[in-house]
Amino acid sequence: MSDKLQKMKIYTYPSSVLRQKAEPVSNIDGELKKLTDGMLYTMYSAPGIGLAANQVGSLDRVIVFDLKPEEKDVRKPCVLINPEIVEREGTTKSEEACLSVIDYSAEVKRNAQVLVRGIDIDGNPLELEADGLLAICLQHEIDHLNGMLFIDHISSLKRAMYKKKLKKILANKE
Ligand code: NI
Repeated sequence: MSDKLQKMKIYTYPSSVLRQKAEPVSNIDGELKKLTDGMLYTMYSAPGIGLAANQVGSLDRVIVFDLKPEEKDVRKPCVLINPEIVEREGTTKSEEACLSVIDYSAEVKRNAQVLVRGIDIDGNPLELEADGLLAICLQHEIDHLNGMLFIDHISSLKRAMYKKKLKKILANKE
């Protein structure tokens, strides 16, 4: 990572860019490298375990993740371009939060195991067989690329309550 990195703006719900579908990346060039470096830097600064391009206002189909963002000595920054879930199995429920959904977390039902294919930053095909937190993280981030948020997976009543809460939070910030 270069030393000129800056924290990028993280778009939050209800920003429209979070509802757009990201476009497949056809060229892994300097611009994309700059984007993913910036995304990793922003993710570690937050800190968060994952970030999708939509969240920083880009519609390139790319996600970054690291399940241990706070442990500087063992950081394992991962970049996945054009990720696709090709197999899914089982179900699991866990508490999720999102850097784009302020002041909220909720239990979300996901597949327990996923097989994800994509391309790494060097252009090599990458296949990830994931379970546990990684499986949840990958499903959450790939959702972002499809314009979805974890709050789309909760009940409409819970979502309505969050919208009400958010309105209050935003009004108090003005
Ligand atoms: Ni998120």
